[in-house]
Amino acid sequence: MKVTVVGAGNVGATCADVLAYKEIAQEIVLVDIKEGVAEGKALDIWQKAPIDVYDSRTIGSTNDYSKTANSDVVVITSGLPRKPGMTRDDLIETNAGIVKSVTENVVKHSPNAIIIVVSNPLDVMTYQAHITSKLPRTKVMGMAGILDTARYRAFLAEELNVSPKEIQAILMGGHGDTMVPLPRYTTVAGIPVTELIAKDKLDAIIERTKFGGGELVKLMGTSAWYAPGSAAAQMVEAIVKDQKRVFPVCIKLDGEYGIDDCYLGVPVILGKNGIEKVIELDLNAEEKALLEVSRGHVKEVMAVLDKLGK
Ligand SMILES: NC(=O)c1ccc[n+]([C@@H]2O[C@H](COP(=O)([O-])OP(=O)(O)OC[C@H]3O[C@@H](n4cnc5c(N)ncnc54)[C@H](O)[C@@H]3O)[C@@H](O)[C@H]2O)c1
Repeated sequence: MKVTVVGAGNVGATCADVLAYKEIAQEIVLVDIKEGVAEGKALDIWQKAPIDVYDSRTIGSTNDYSKTANSDVVVITSGLPRKPGMTRDDLIETNAGIVKSVTENVVKHSPNAIIIVVSNPLDVMTYQAHITSKLPRTKVMGMAGILDTARYRAFLAEELNVSPKEIQAILMGGHGDTMVPLPRYTTVAGIPVTELIAKDKLDAIIERTKFGGGELVKLMGTSAWYAPGSAAAQMVEAIVKDQKRVFPVCIKLDGEYGIDDCYLGVPVILGKNGIEKVIELDLNAEEKALLEVSRGHVKEVMAVLDKLGK
């Protein structure tokens, strides 16, 4: 399998590294616009192979998409990250132009690739990549839910003093402060989390999760990369190994949850065909209301993109 990662910055290089050392793809191409950066990081990852004992091959390219030809999956991480004081939406104008030109190059050389968008604002950059690529909605998706769920699971594991492996959870909605956590569907080794934690503590963890990205931006002056890079690699793995894993993934909704024409995170089954099924949960009134707020927010940012001319 051949996987391209566009953007050899913090998230892209981390994703390529995980794809290599976990041998998720045999051939990995890292692309960046900055001269030599992708080549250098790819060479570094390849030189780690004898130490970490893997045989996946990573190569780099400065904006030469011919090297990415016939990729099975492409991860798009190119674009500005947030700085302290910025929201994800502040990135829209610059990143929309980048995601558009990158997507054009990607589909020109890999017309059958499945595209995973990571650049922010995530839901709207998924919209941009989808309309530019003209691919079916099941083949253009955004990564955010795995990361947001991982943050939630990590906070819960810490609070309950259990292994993060034991915590199963799902959340929905846009990637941002309007995400919709679903405590009803959160379990610890099968035990509903609500039986193990007081409501006020759980509420505090949900709030921390919503602003989890901002917490890291404040600490580091830029956004996170280890967990985001691994999350994107986990989606690639589900696709290239046809694992049929269930993850929250951003997709254009076409009537699911009563929503049309909006890009939102929902639980899906991921396999070799991309998004093979959108799972529709029976949401209660409170969850539906939260999802509606999230939809309204994403639609506002989609309208900004429409005004920019896509
Ligand atoms: N979806 C998520 O959950 C999530 C999580 C973390 C970061 N992000 C987003 O991912 C993006 C990347 O974050 P990062 O921390 O890796 O940033 P970064 O600045 O470290 O890396 C971005 C890279 O993109 C490259 N680039 C810019 N324009 C390009 C183009 N036209 N073609 C190819 N490469 C180009 C830059 O040269 C740079 O190396 C940001 O938009 C960030 O907000 C999303």
